[in-house]
Amino acid sequence: MNEPTIEDYYSEDRKFAPSADFVAQALTADQSLYEEAAADRLAFWARQARELVTWFEDFDTVLEWELPFAKWFVGGKLNMSYNCLDRHVEAGKGDRVAFHWEGEPGDTRTITYADLLDEVSRFANVLKDLGVHKGDRVCIYMPMIPELPVAMLACSRIGAPHSIVFGGFSSDALADRINDAEAKVLITSDGGYRRGDPFALKGTADTAVAATDSIEHVVVVQRTGQDVAWNDVDVWWHDLMADASPDCPPESLDSEDLLYLLYTSGTTAKPKGIMHTTGGYLTQVAFTHKYVFDLHPDDDVYWCAADIGWVTGHSYIVYGPLANGCTSVMYEGTPDTPRPEHREGDRASWPKDRLWDIIERYGVTQLYTAPTAIRTFMKWGAQEVEPHDLSSLKVLGTVGEPINPEAWMWYHTYIGGETCPIVDTWWQTETGGHMITPMPGVTTTKPGSAVGAIPGVDIEVVDDAGNPIERGGGYLTISEPWPAMLRGIWGDPERYKETYWSTYEGRYFAGDGAKIDDEGYLWLLGRVDDVMNVSGHRISTTEIESALVDHPSVAEAAVVGATDATTGQAIVGYVILRGGNEASAELAEEIRGHVATKLGAIARPRAVFLVPDLPKTRSGKIMRRLLRDVAEGRNLGDTTTLADASVVDEIRDRAAEAPQED
Ligand code: WTA
Repeated sequence: MNEPTIEDYYSEDRKFAPSADFVAQALTADQSLYEEAAADRLAFWARQARELVTWFEDFDTVLEWELPFAKWFVGGKLNMSYNCLDRHVEAGKGDRVAFHWEGEPGDTRTITYADLLDEVSRFANVLKDLGVHKGDRVCIYMPMIPELPVAMLACSRIGAPHSIVFGGFSSDALADRINDAEAKVLITSDGGYRRGDPFALKGTADTAVAATDSIEHVVVVQRTGQDVAWNDVDVWWHDLMADASPDCPPESLDSEDLLYLLYTSGTTAKPKGIMHTTGGYLTQVAFTHKYVFDLHPDDDVYWCAADIGWVTGHSYIVYGPLANGCTSVMYEGTPDTPRPEHREGDRASWPKDRLWDIIERYGVTQLYTAPTAIRTFMKWGAQEVEPHDLSSLKVLGTVGEPINPEAWMWYHTYIGGETCPIVDTWWQTETGGHMITPMPGVTTTKPGSAVGAIPGVDIEVVDDAGNPIERGGGYLTISEPWPAMLRGIWGDPERYKETYWSTYEGRYFAGDGAKIDDEGYLWLLGRVDDVMNVSGHRISTTEIESALVDHPSVAEAAVVGATDATTGQAIVGYVILRGGNEASAELAEEIRGHVATKLGAIARPRAVFLVPDLPKTRSGKIMRRLLRDVAEGRNLGDTTTLADASVVDEIRDRAAEAPQED
């Protein structure tokens, strides 16, 4: 019999159905899309591809599948930037705002679809003049400024795949990625604004370029006006754009032409250049962006508060929203940096309400952010939100990590005003677009559960032997190819097979655990590498973290299994308190007890440390590996992907001071 392989303790009774008002206006409010896809998955995706995408030439085969290599919409010809821009302008929507862009210092730009088409066409001509041809890779290393989507779309217009490297990465990381992709051109800026001050980017880019051979030109956007060193390969964006023609017909590209590479940073191994192609990717991101956010492009103001340097920004700031012709907000800076007129006194006394201020001013209807951000807002407290009118909001989304039920409830209560459906979207750089999520007008949600697969995607939870289980915890696999799936790892097809398709035969597996509850709801349990083994019980860190966050004083928690002579591994929790709570040994003890009450004695942590902060990657995921090192008293391994390296020192000091009990 197929048995659960990860135990599950957390149970949730709260349920939220979409309101009658929401259902009445929803794009889809019944099972019809699910039923259609279940009846004929390929026909379903073919219909979406023909309805949501404009093809220069129709495709003749929906899917060619030679495990693990997929080709979607074979024979189809299209252009991504045409789908994102020209067709909307041709339909008379050139005056619609594509981006309400807001810089951190409070400067703004309103960019219509016609404006964007003009800039993209000019920059596409610039790239051609610099010798960029179809198939050449262009590396982009930029802050969140409008020139970033312009550069991406210009690349897609001429069929040159882009490779975006998040602006927070080091020169080594940038050089590695340039070298692996053999990029010909680098696009960067002098710097950007973050946490109230300008930061420099060009110097880091220069160091990286010096360590590469392939870069022929570096195009530099002037964002801050700071002094920069100037090299032979450098050219100013504004100089090139001043002379560029706005006439650049979109290339007719093949459905399977490479759209972009995006490197996932393994913590130890060489980064993997994840390959995404055009037709299938566009179909799935357009479909999910439309239905998962219940998009009404004539009325909505959508905001994905991620960075374009991550896949979330690629799919749900740029390609999905523009393909659907909607109006988006794009913001350069951090949520704790108010506009300059609200920066009084020292930084600590500044309001932490920039997001709520932006939602109120632009009338944002959909907000898409990460659990790590939501838990930070919990820590800051609801008083930052309360002065703002957020009643324009209609749908809330989350992505990036499992959302703990209490963080979900906080989002629901304080941001959603108890009326907005929450879509908890599970997906990966590799999947390209949403895979598991509620549909806001259809699904009755449970706080913390991502519920189930989207129409046209087949998810199965399997046991150690790779057999599907119907209830309980196991490994999350995808059993059929999907349109936006990665097509491979750049330059390394063997590694692609080995990494994703070898653990369970015939299945895609990328490392997450999941459980199915008694009502068939799917719950993500975090990375399987993080699953603990306590006295022979395989327990997910996610569930313990959710029980910790369930305590009213806790905003955020990270749990690791530390080696223990008696139990094999012991549960160690690191906890950030909500604003207004004093750290004390009594409180830590109370929180330990809370976990036992909630989940049972087996789940009681050996120790709970109250810490000021947690080590996170630059995209906001908790780095449990480092916490395990601290818990086991080891020297720290590689910390280069850490957003703020000093955090670990502080945690180590606290852990050394605090008593541990058995
Ligand atoms: C995690 C981000 C639980 C998961 C789009 C996955 C999630 C990894 C969720 C991919 C979610 C993402 N619930 N876990 N809703 N969304 N994850 O490549 O572990 O940056 O494998 O893509 O994030 O991260 P990536």
